[in-house]
Amino acid sequence: MLSEKVEAALNEQMNWEIYSAHIYLSMSSHFAEEGLGGFAAWMYAQYQEEMFHAMRFFNYINEAGGRAVLGTIEAPQTSWEKPLAAFQDALEHEQGVTARINALADLAVEEKNHAVGIFLQWFISEQIEEEDTVGDIVGKLKLVGDGGGLFMLDRDLGTRVFTPPTNA
Ligand code: FEO
Repeated sequence: MLSEKVEAALNEQMNWEIYSAHIYLSMSSHFAEEGLGGFAAWMYAQYQEEMFHAMRFFNYINEAGGRAVLGTIEAPQTSWEKPLAAFQDALEHEQGVTARINALADLAVEEKNHAVGIFLQWFISEQIEEEDTVGDIVGKLKLVGDGGGLFMLDRDLGTRVFTPPTNA
């Protein structure tokens, strides 16, 4: 059972996850054009992960007796001056997602909707990992600068494959 307010907030987050997916897909396209195939592959996996997040909300809203409603998704940025700028944007975006998830969890407490609170627990843990992973890459990009290390990092990041978590 979802109140109108909680249902609207869950829908807003579902659409925000799709927006997140579009940002990373746009970054993937940008890196592909730049000849950085590993960065492009990493961003493509991140796009898949964000769509997985969106579908968790989609399925939950419908299963909880609400209705998942798809909205207009703002067009994302299409190019970045350097890989570091893209990953810094990604980190800032993830910090914003964390704030949104925390606000949703606050709303679940206010409304005494413990089921929604339990649903959101997975996202609270997931955001710690999201910020840590992206923050780690930002740190590495700062270390390597524009030198040959960028190509090694491109090779490393290219090994990422998105696998849906088994605990989901
Ligand atoms: Fe779905 Fe990257 O937060």
